[in-house]
Amino acid sequence: MDKRLTETLRHVAEFYDARKVGDVGPLGFRRSTDLMTLLKCLNRLIPEGVVRPGETRFLDLGCADGRVNVFLSYLVRISAGIELDEWTLDEYGSLKFELENELNQSGLPAPPANIYLFHGDSMDDRTHRQVLDETHTSLEAFDLFYTYLVMHDEFARLIQRHAKPGAVFMVYGLKKIMPAYDGLRLLDQLSPMEGILALYVKE
Ligand SMILES: C[S@@+](CC[C@H](N)C(=O)[O-])C[C@H]1O[C@@H](n2cnc3c(N)ncnc32)[C@H](O)[C@@H]1O
Repeated sequence: MDKRLTETLRHVAEFYDARKVGDVGPLGFRRSTDLMTLLKCLNRLIPEGVVRPGETRFLDLGCADGRVNVFLSYLVRISAGIELDEWTLDEYGSLKFELENELNQSGLPAPPANIYLFHGDSMDDRTHRQVLDETHTSLEAFDLFYTYLVMHDEFARLIQRHAKPGAVFMVYGLKKIMPAYDGLRLLDQLSPMEGILALYVKE
């Protein structure tokens, strides 16, 4: 990654990491990924070909305020996300607006126009059709899937059923014990990356 991109991603990470949700209190189900940690993971995700700049089609299966989507938008071709709770997804716009102002003041680029967020259930065919209609990308065409622990067993089954061989499922929030999923192989040389991110490949 060039210097300007790294600087931009660091700014985005600092912005969202200062506004984490769910670490304490009743909103634990929508805990936020630490984007500074994800930034460190990119040092391996890119050379390993898991994130292919300008090519990868990314889908966060429970995207909340879309922070992982905004972060990865600079690197991927399509940055899509699905969120069950409308009020959570509603936070995306105002946060992005605030972030863009900050980036602008620092002379850094705004996120590209490749972010598509959807209100719905990631397990629901109707949501998949909506994603397909708007992004021209079916579940079979996505390269990289993501969850922060939420519904990981169910999402693994969805990926096992619908994703193409070679698609990667990243599960954030794991520690030493990494679950096994039918039809998905743990990339054990890479996992847990930064002690928290497990990677599985669809066989
Ligand atoms: C722990 S948060 C993670 C948010 C974001 N991906 C991140 O890492 O910062 C998980 C989110 O998944 C959402 N969620 C749970 N089940 C879902 C489903 N079946 N479809 C879509 N979203 C779901 C929750 O509402 C919650 O906002």
